[in-house]
Amino acid sequence: MELNSNKTVEKDELTGDKLLSDHEYDNIRELDNNLPKWWVWLFIITIVGSLVYPFVIKTQKDEWKNEMATAGASAGQSSVVSAADTIALTDQASLDAGKEIWLKQCKVCHLEGGQGLVGPNMTDNFAIYGCSYYNVLNIITVGAPEKGMISWKTQLSGDQIKKVASFVMTLRGTTPPNPKAPQGEPCK
Ligand code: HEC
Repeated sequence: MELNSNKTVEKDELTGDKLLSDHEYDNIRELDNNLPKWWVWLFIITIVGSLVYPFVIKTQKDEWKNEMATAGASAGQSSVVSAADTIALTDQASLDAGKEIWLKQCKVCHLEGGQGLVGPNMTDNFAIYGCSYYNVLNIITVGAPEKGMISWKTQLSGDQIKKVASFVMTLRGTTPPNPKAPQGEPCK
């Protein structure tokens, strides 16, 4: 067919839709239908969405990592306490530093001499969470928040926790006044 020289738009007789002037095969002519507006917009939105998507995924990945880190830390043996931490520090400097932390952070509930008030007595031969240095280190690190003992790992460094736990170990067997009644299991 010949191209429409005067550019008038040819319309299909039946539907009134625009005809494509240069598409004619075997006498069949194509209609030049524009895509519906809603479809075009949906298409554009998917393209824009695909550009934004990688960033959404990235923040979700970060969130997941953070949540896994906190979940792992509160699920018992936190990263601060390692199985190698079985021997309490005994040097005077560490014990002095531990005592300083004790007086500042722990005294309110356990009292200065460790005789116990809100928190249990540290001087008797009983413990709720175990008697070993490792047990003490661990309970200070993870805490027992539902019982009133917070997890100290956000307030104290791993090093400070080791020092205060080592100091706690020195309290056992001492005899401060007005000790709180034993709690937990006897230490072997
Ligand atoms: C707000 C009060 C409070 C403070 C402050 C506090 N504790 Fe406790 N602590 C508790 C309570 C309550 C328990 C007993 C939890 C239970 O009954 O399960 C406890 C338990 C413990 C235990 C385990 C005792 C056992 O019998 O197994 C240790 C060890 C301990 N605390 C050390 C510390 C240290 C070290 C600090 C300071 C860094 C500290 N606590 C600060 C309230 C406190």
